[in-house]
Amino acid sequence: MSGMETLRLIVVFIHLIGFAVLFGAWAAQAFGGKRQITKLMDYGLAIAGLAGLALAAPWGISYDLNYVKIGVKLVVLVIIGAMLGIGSARQKRGETVPSAVFWLIGLLTLANAGMGLLWRG
Ligand code: HEM
Repeated sequence: MSGMETLRLIVVFIHLIGFAVLFGAWAAQAFGGKRQITKLMDYGLAIAGLAGLALAAPWGISYDLNYVKIGVKLVVLVIIGAMLGIGSARQKRGETVPSAVFWLIGLLTLANAGMGLLWRG
């Protein structure tokens, strides 16, 4: 395996850590938590997003990237970011996070992970 291939796998690992942090923080709030937005969700999204942008360039691979998939993932990431922003703004005003906003964060996070894994070619 070349150095570039190894480096790319490390960036994929960081991408997965971002996913784990975002989804884990959300799941803790969803199941037994107060259904609030937490800072950890922002950090997870930032980690997954930065690593994702690095993976969006064709290096360390011998196949072609699917730019339609990458574009859709980027749009989904922006929507998750908007939901986190709307939710935390409501919280700061002492209101509850609208349940559609809260559940969309988890669902769209899973959608992006599912796309990364299942949408091949
Ligand atoms: C909430 C945000 C995101 C989550 C949870 C997420 C999750 C994942 C997961 C689970 C994988 C599969 C890793 C593997 O192949 O083993 C993946 C792959 C990938 N993701 Fe993301 N992702 C997110 C955002 C993004 C963004 C914003 C981009 C780029 C703009 C991106 C680009 C990629 C690329 C290029 C791959 C590898 C695809 C391939 O080589 O076939 N991701 N992602």
